[in-house]
Amino acid sequence: MNKRFTIGKFPRTRLRRNRQSPWCRNLISETELSVNDLIYPMFVTNGKKITENIKSLPSVKRYSIDIILKKIEEVKKLGIPAIALFPYVEKKLKTFDGKEALNKNNLICKSIKEIKKKFPDLGLICDVALDPYTTHGHDGILRNNCIVNDETIEILSQQAIIQAEAGADIIAPSDMMDGRIGVIRDRLDNEGFGNTIILSYAAKFASNFYGPFRDAVGSSKSLGKTDKKTYQMNFQNSNEAIREVSMDINEGADMVMIKPALPYLDIISKVKRKFNIPIFAYQVSGEYSMLKHAEKENSLNYKKCLYESLISIKRAGASAIFCYGAIDIAKNLK
Ligand code: PBG
Repeated sequence: MNKRFTIGKFPRTRLRRNRQSPWCRNLISETELSVNDLIYPMFVTNGKKITENIKSLPSVKRYSIDIILKKIEEVKKLGIPAIALFPYVEKKLKTFDGKEALNKNNLICKSIKEIKKKFPDLGLICDVALDPYTTHGHDGILRNNCIVNDETIEILSQQAIIQAEAGADIIAPSDMMDGRIGVIRDRLDNEGFGNTIILSYAAKFASNFYGPFRDAVGSSKSLGKTDKKTYQMNFQNSNEAIREVSMDINEGADMVMIKPALPYLDIISKVKRKFNIPIFAYQVSGEYSMLKHAEKENSLNYKKCLYESLISIKRAGASAIFCYGAIDIAKNLK
């Protein structure tokens, strides 16, 4: 028998001894959650003085730039280190090729500039993918019913540049094209953005938990009955996640994302054991919505369950978590 795993025998050893009181439980706790672990995803929309509800994503709103700036004051006050910003693109600006993504004065670039002007020391993370901009709702260029990889990368690398230029601190390709991290890194370096961080959505699964997010950015109608299974990962696989992560590290990713989070804790823990790279986890819209809806039905205590789920994501090995309940949790941590 392996001695290392022999922890003692009942009745001399009683594991409940250490659990008797809060102070002792605190002393032996193995995982902590702090406000420094949180990233707050936010949705920005065109116009002025706008606050819009998103039905499938309770308590999360779309804000126009003027209002989002006020909301971010609260985020800053709570000590949340970074936000992730997603645009709601008007229907009339969506095209088959998603070219609005490359407009230097588009909504996301305008928002980045305004936010960084007012909050220079707040971390700002931006998605790189075409889904808010395409009429078909896919993350890349669609040709003959196929998302074409290399052509998409070309456009994504330009999208990365204009977002970096606008002031985004972290560029987060969420498209799952092969080879995009290397191309984007080279492009950023060549254009003088050597300090721009790349957070690669390395293991992003073709998940059914993204539904409310797609309502929030307005891509669910465009997608219709189609899915993203030819580029996002099959959720039956975990070895493949290791290959995805190792390729992105080789291509120059500074951090990797695992997404969704709670149904994929095995992936987080496997990646943590294998690689020395910061792991971010995205507690996605569907995970959050489930808790919110259960709260509405008086089935669960939302805040306590949210806290428990975030702890489990950290326990699995994540360094930071994208969380729609970041403000609620941050208030509780204070
Ligand atoms: C799109 C993108 C998605 C999310 C973040 N970026 C959805 C998708 O791939 O369709 C999902 C986030 C969430 O569900 O909260 N590139």
